[in-house]
Amino acid sequence: MSTLLSVENLSKHYTLSGGLFGAERRLDALTDINLTVEAGETLAIVGESGCGKTTLGRCIIQAQPASAGKVVYRPKAGGEVELSALNKRQIKPWRQDIRMIFQDPMSSLNPNMRVFDIVAEPLRIHKICKGRELEDRVIGTLAKVGIPAEAVGRYPHAFSGGQRQRIGIARALVLDPKLVIADEAVSALDVSIQAQVLNLLEDLKSEFGLTYIFISHDLGVVNYIADRVVVMYLGHVVENAPTEMLFERPRHPYTELLLEALPIADPLRRKGRKAEVRGEIPYLGNRPQGCPFHTRCRYAQDVCRAEKPALRRVNGTAQEAACLFAEELELKGAYEDGPVKVLHEA
Ligand SMILES: Nc1ncnc2c1ncn2[C@@H]1O[C@H](COP(=O)(O)OP(=O)(O)O)[C@@H](O)[C@H]1O
Ligand code: SF4
Ligand SMILES: [Mg+2]
Repeated sequence: MSTLLSVENLSKHYTLSGGLFGAERRLDALTDINLTVEAGETLAIVGESGCGKTTLGRCIIQAQPASAGKVVYRPKAGGEVELSALNKRQIKPWRQDIRMIFQDPMSSLNPNMRVFDIVAEPLRIHKICKGRELEDRVIGTLAKVGIPAEAVGRYPHAFSGGQRQRIGIARALVLDPKLVIADEAVSALDVSIQAQVLNLLEDLKSEFGLTYIFISHDLGVVNYIADRVVVMYLGHVVENAPTEMLFERPRHPYTELLLEALPIADPLRRKGRKAEVRGEIPYLGNRPQGCPFHTRCRYAQDVCRAEKPALRRVNGTAQEAACLFAEELELKGAYEDGPVKVLHEA
């Protein structure tokens, strides 16, 4: 596999004003993120709400500037382009290659536009085609996601949640992208509809040779779709591993905590599992010193309060973790009673 995109030492902070006596506060949404996305893979980014997943997605597509670091894209034709160094005009052609699908199709689809125009808009903005060719391309793409030609004159409110997400997917795919960033793309859907949309994403991936960054707070969904998982906590990458390895033997205590809270499809296996992730997430503007996870970590030692662990390879494997004790800890995975696929086919 070749690297399609890399994120290098990327940080993003927000300055919040209007605190007590108008004081400014700095909120570090992302701290020194390093990751690569290999061509053809589905890379999941997981973590609880507020850990910086959406901010990372938006910094990758350059919808907002990073405070530091780089995003480098390597299109298959060869060569590389530092997206983070481009101005608005220069970035435009690359926006065809990297598309984002959002969580809430109701707010990301313009309610006053017909479905045809919603999907046609990116083709018009990028002046790709018009007339009959545009019509064919829009209707063809909608057909691929299961929206029939007779429905293209309707407005988004006439569709169900699952259908609206399909329209959002068509809007992303109509430009024939290479990399699709799906941000909580199935989180708002019922479980059975989730499985249908995930299966659709899988089918489209092989049909169009896509690469996905799949952002989700739900490890069950991630287990279903991802080849590799990046776990984020308070704006840091704390673990990065092939999906099987991560589920079998996590190397970061935060991953273990997330796996513990995973709802298991088979009720007999629910024993001892909690539905909630334990502990409270600290406020990002007031992050703990040392290991960012030490306030919630059941294995924390004194050294964890002083020393910040770097993300590093564990025992020379493909698994990376940012824990001082990644090698020694015997953390519990999700496969104790054999492999678990949380979502089953629709
Ligand atoms: N435009 C913004 N201004 C200030 N803070 C923001 C902004 N966008 C996000 N944040 C903060 O950055 C942190 C990460 O947010 P986000 O990337 O949306 O997390 P996630 O997608 O993982 O839930 C949160 O604390 C959020 O409140
Ligand atoms: S470094 Fe310490 S506090 Fe941080 S995850 Fe590892 S054991 Fe827990
Ligand atoms: Mg988000």
